[in-house]
Amino acid sequence: MAKILVTGGLGFIGSHTVVELINSGYEPIIVDDLSNSDPKIMDQLAKIIGYKPPFYKLDLCDEQGTKELAKKEPDIAGIIHFAAFKAVGESVQQPIKYYRNNFYSLLNILNAYDGKPVNFVFSSSCTVYGQPDVLPVTESAPVKTAESPYGNTKQIAEEMLKDMQTAGSSYKVISLRYFNPVGAHSSALIGELPIGVPQNLVPFITQTAIGKREKITVFGDDYSTLDGSCIRDYIHVVDLAKAHVAALKLMEAETFKGYDVFNIGTGTGSSVLEVIRAFEQSTGQKLNYQIGPRRGGDIEQVWGDVNKSKNILKWQTELDLDTMMQSAWEWEKYIAQNPL
Ligand code: UD1
Repeated sequence: MAKILVTGGLGFIGSHTVVELINSGYEPIIVDDLSNSDPKIMDQLAKIIGYKPPFYKLDLCDEQGTKELAKKEPDIAGIIHFAAFKAVGESVQQPIKYYRNNFYSLLNILNAYDGKPVNFVFSSSCTVYGQPDVLPVTESAPVKTAESPYGNTKQIAEEMLKDMQTAGSSYKVISLRYFNPVGAHSSALIGELPIGVPQNLVPFITQTAIGKREKITVFGDDYSTLDGSCIRDYIHVVDLAKAHVAALKLMEAETFKGYDVFNIGTGTGSSVLEVIRAFEQSTGQKLNYQIGPRRGGDIEQVWGDVNKSKNILKWQTELDLDTMMQSAWEWEKYIAQNPL
């Protein structure tokens, strides 16, 4: 079984990817500094997969520690690099924290395995597109000036990885540009665990429905969209997790050379009000919501062209918006009854 290092493997997307790696016959090794994840997710993973994968508690900004990790785990076939900070607003307030963490960790892990034939999957984001001129946005759309330091770390990291390839690195690299990951595993044993007040739409919806928050505010209904609220391409986290397995498989092919980038979304957009309606209809929960002002920095609408992913990555989504909402709700109920 091929060993795959999963950095940030106890986080939201990381934990779901660990499950999909095992389902596909890989042997995940988890690295996480627990700065934005809970160690009890390991117990939850064990309930799904039947055992606890090897785990290293490590901050990848620790260069020496990362080198030691590479000595202890020399025979890996791939790295899926999730470990990064991801809160857009916080990155505007504390840019250096973001540049420091997201770059040091990436550089240290790359250096640690430099010279070895390792397949590397990088967590990128649709944030690299800003507000695209043409929708759905394709991978070849021009990358706009980043709206936030967080977005800038994704843009620069992609450039770095591409340059590394041009220079003839031993790594093969795929960057996956995620659209908006939501939902939870069908077992309801793992899901998104926001620390404090959630910044993202779906955890705010589920926390409002369960009574942790009084109401949810729709940030603006005066955009140039059908119902006036912003549009995003929401994708089920299990579909997203499977994209990482597809990326590893593609890089395993002799024919794959160097570097490539893929949109990871459903290919359709949903407005905030459509998401709220889908939640209400698919769960039977009435949501207390109000219309509020626009949120600074939000783009109006984005959804991805996923033809390249379908044709080359041989991957596409299977789960719809109702399933995303139902699974997110099941997880919220589970966590309310079984706090970690
Ligand atoms: C942003 C980033 C994305 C990043 C993600 C992680 C951009 C373009 N996108 O996604 O790259 O991975 O954060 O944090 O920078 N909304 C409400 N009320 C709420 C919360 C959200 O109406 O209480 C609306 C927002 O205005 C937006 C939509 O819901 O229109 C989705 O927001 P959110 O879940 O925060 O994700 P993005 O901002 O799209």
